[in-house]
Amino acid sequence: MPILDSTTVEFLSGSPAQTARIGERLGKLLKGGEVICLEGQLGAGKTCFAQGLGRGWGATDDLTSPTFTLIHELRREADRKHLYHVDLYRLESEREAWMLGLSDLMDSTSTVLIEWPERALSLLPTDRLWITLELVDDTRRRLTFKPTDAQHQALLTALKREVFGIRS
Ligand SMILES: Nc1ncnc2c1ncn2[C@@H]1O[C@H](COP(=O)(O)OP(=O)(O)O)[C@@H](O)[C@H]1O
Ligand SMILES: [Mg+2]
Repeated sequence: MPILDSTTVEFLSGSPAQTARIGERLGKLLKGGEVICLEGQLGAGKTCFAQGLGRGWGATDDLTSPTFTLIHELRREADRKHLYHVDLYRLESEREAWMLGLSDLMDSTSTVLIEWPERALSLLPTDRLWITLELVDDTRRRLTFKPTDAQHQALLTALKREVFGIRS
């Protein structure tokens, strides 16, 4: 599996289950305060990844694709932490995201996972894990992970160790 530079990591997924499993592994490593951006065209697997992430994090309510609301709030029994699953596909403007209070979700204990993050870029913190999902063919997806700060870098290093069983 290629490691593109010291901070960028690429995973190749061969099935929806595998994409969800990578998400699940990442979900298990979350401590709170992370911002995870999922960029990629319709059908790239963002929601599939998000569902796995919710499972790994321990969400007690289902992490379904938010069809009518842009912000879904997930909880778990283990503690009082929150996971927000935001889907900006239907966002009309950055102003709408501002009015919805997108920025207020980001705090030191919550994890915010965002589909279509490029639609509200100016409202997002610069410290984040940016994941780009690309279609390779019908069943394969390329997932490229880019952390922008030490916290998300550490998260990615831990994920890499889980998935590949290597240290770096
Ligand atoms: N390796 C893969 N990973 C994720 N989804 C895949 C993969 N191969 C095929 N698919 C299909 O692609 C679609 C992804 O849908 P979804 O996760 O809702 O995408 P998005 O949220 O990016 O629009 C699903 O129909 C899924 O079955
Ligand atoms: Mg989606």
